[in-house]
Amino acid sequence: MDKKDFYLMKKNGKAISMVTVYDAAFARMAEAAQIDMLLVGDSAANVMLGMDRTADISMEAMCLFTNAVTQGAPKSYVISDMPFGSDAEPKTAVLNAKKLLEAGADAVKIEGLPLKSLKALRENEIEIVGHLGLLPQTAKNFKQVGQNEEEAEKILEQAQILDGLEPCAIVLEHIPSTLGQKISLAINAPTIGIGAGKHTDGQVLVMHDLLKMHPFKLPPFAKCFANFWEAGVSAFCEYKNWINEK
Ligand code: KIV
Repeated sequence: MDKKDFYLMKKNGKAISMVTVYDAAFARMAEAAQIDMLLVGDSAANVMLGMDRTADISMEAMCLFTNAVTQGAPKSYVISDMPFGSDAEPKTAVLNAKKLLEAGADAVKIEGLPLKSLKALRENEIEIVGHLGLLPQTAKNFKQVGQNEEEAEKILEQAQILDGLEPCAIVLEHIPSTLGQKISLAINAPTIGIGAGKHTDGQVLVMHDLLKMHPFKLPPFAKCFANFWEAGVSAFCEYKNWINEK
């Protein structure tokens, strides 16, 4: 799969699936399930490294996770998040994006609209994925954005500017469903929603929410398809009992 396939899927009304993965074992599972796009999200900071903020993850860590994912899922389309600050200047953005590509990524995802850096990436033939709406790297809180007309208009405008750079896709996070639909209709690039309603061209979930791998409250828009937390704790208990009974 590559960019033209994702554009074709949008054109043909075929929904695009994306999930975050961070290591070879789960990437292998996602590839077996034929998920269309694997995202090595900087949410790895929270779910893999136990940090409070995605902004604290390093370039080195993102390269390590990216490499692990591409080892486990060599045939999949892999997108890696550019860590906070790594895309601030065009030159460093290109250098840092190349590190993620060397680690195996097919494209890099950037939050917001650092236009000069995004243009520099495209001039260097680096595939990009946009990320608009709620931007966890810089957000002060996790409330829905784009609720008032002015904010909604600004996000739509940003999506249109990004669309001009022919990104592989644009992730839309935690915006009203009506805005998710409006943007999806207004641009050529596929939109991938997380808390952006059902009208986007695809959906993305954080693997740890999708599989319920933690005991914490899920975000309001997350959907659970398994309970790995319960299954895991129960297996560890059984293991412990088995040792005790020996
Ligand atoms: O890092 C991440 O997991 C993401 C998703 C929320 C889209 O960017």
